[in-house]
Amino acid sequence: MDPSALVLADASLPPAERHAALTATLASLIAGERDPVANSANAAALLYFGLPDVNWAGVYLLRGAELVVGPFQGRPACIRIALGRGVCGTAALRRATIVVADVHEFPGHIACDSASLSEIVVPLVSGSRLVGVLDLDSPRRARFTDVDARGLEAFAATLAAGSDWAA
Ligand code: SME
Repeated sequence: MDPSALVLADASLPPAERHAALTATLASLIAGERDPVANSANAAALLYFGLPDVNWAGVYLLRGAELVVGPFQGRPACIRIALGRGVCGTAALRRATIVVADVHEFPGHIACDSASLSEIVVPLVSGSRLVGVLDLDSPRRARFTDVDARGLEAFAATLAAGSDWAA
């Protein structure tokens, strides 16, 4: 897909439809490209510019027993997160989506941008292998809902299946 032809999700769409549009756009954008850095970079940009009230969107990639920051949009972030640490490391260890309504109430939350008040982390799983996580922050408390969780899980599944991840 020619990126210049991209139309980001219509801001008037309800959240579920907006997620469906973003996932469909991601699928078109990464079709024919298997590089995980290229695809993660476009995924991060799509989420950052396609969803309201998001101040950080990107991926952390699994490297051994750590997550290492990958392509993202937003302020510079912490580079390495051990499995089990922070929201990202906890979601990775559990292989489960975590929605945090108020980051100040999540024990061990790792603050990268003091403007962030809520967060969602979705595991990236390729086949049966955890390859990283998708992470989004918001400056609005309780920004992320179950609709966002289901929508971002579909988005993460498309990204994970559409790329060849390093061993
Ligand atoms: N808040 C995350 C760290 C990554 S930044 O939000 C980009 C965490 O607690 O794992």
